[in-house]
Amino acid sequence: MIDNNPVYIALDFAKPQQVLDFLDRFETNGLAVKIGMELFYHTGPALIADLKGAGCQIFLDLKLHDIPNTVKKAMKGLAGFGVDIVNVHAAGGNTMMEAALEGLDQGTPPGKKRPKCIAVTQLTSTSQQMMNQYLLIGGKIEDVALSYARLAQSAGLDGVVCSPLEVPSIKKRCGKDFLTVTPGIRPAGSVEDDQVRITTPKRARELGSDAIVVGRSITKADDPLLAYHQIQAEWSEANE
Ligand code: C5P
Repeated sequence: MIDNNPVYIALDFAKPQQVLDFLDRFETNGLAVKIGMELFYHTGPALIADLKGAGCQIFLDLKLHDIPNTVKKAMKGLAGFGVDIVNVHAAGGNTMMEAALEGLDQGTPPGKKRPKCIAVTQLTSTSQQMMNQYLLIGGKIEDVALSYARLAQSAGLDGVVCSPLEVPSIKKRCGKDFLTVTPGIRPAGSVEDDQVRITTPKRARELGSDAIVVGRSITKADDPLLAYHQIQAEWSEANE
């Protein structure tokens, strides 16, 4: 289960002031936000502390992918930030994912909850053709995502980041408690940008997603608060 709020807003901004201006219109207590590379590499951890102080639920999406020892030590550091979710690329392998968990366990302050650790299967911007012809990974993208999910589960991770389209097969093989957090969300009629394997928020929930990540459909909307509420309403109306 994802604690509380299942709609994560991807704060893909470069400057802390842009984040604060954007968040000004929201009730931040209980708001779920995702901090990715763009924001973190521009601002560092200080903003995390501010957002935590404002009551936000935080998914720190840095997609670690390196040798096991480096990932372990990096996770030991990230565990101290007190975020709710962190992630790695499953392509780093099971030893790297096990090391990530060890680092998190070591770095979580006494009495605090270890952040959930989830693995990216295949980026939602990766198409079947890109995976087969350029990354030279054979097979169907859904099968590759499933096999990465099973690898992540065998390493002890809490779940995966995947396309909503891959959720049914992952839930079937890994069980309903294995988390699926899904970007690649576009409300009906909105632009796809660089995303490929997408669904609407409603369809994502119907397919079994535990939480969705929505960026540009909210951050670039004329009225971001309205867009957020519409997406939340779509999620709530869907049959699980
Ligand atoms: O703007 P948009 O809704 O496409 O943003 C999606 C967010 O989710 C981005 O921050 C992107 O980095 C992230 N993400 C993704 N696909 C993954 C993992 C994370 O799009 N597999």
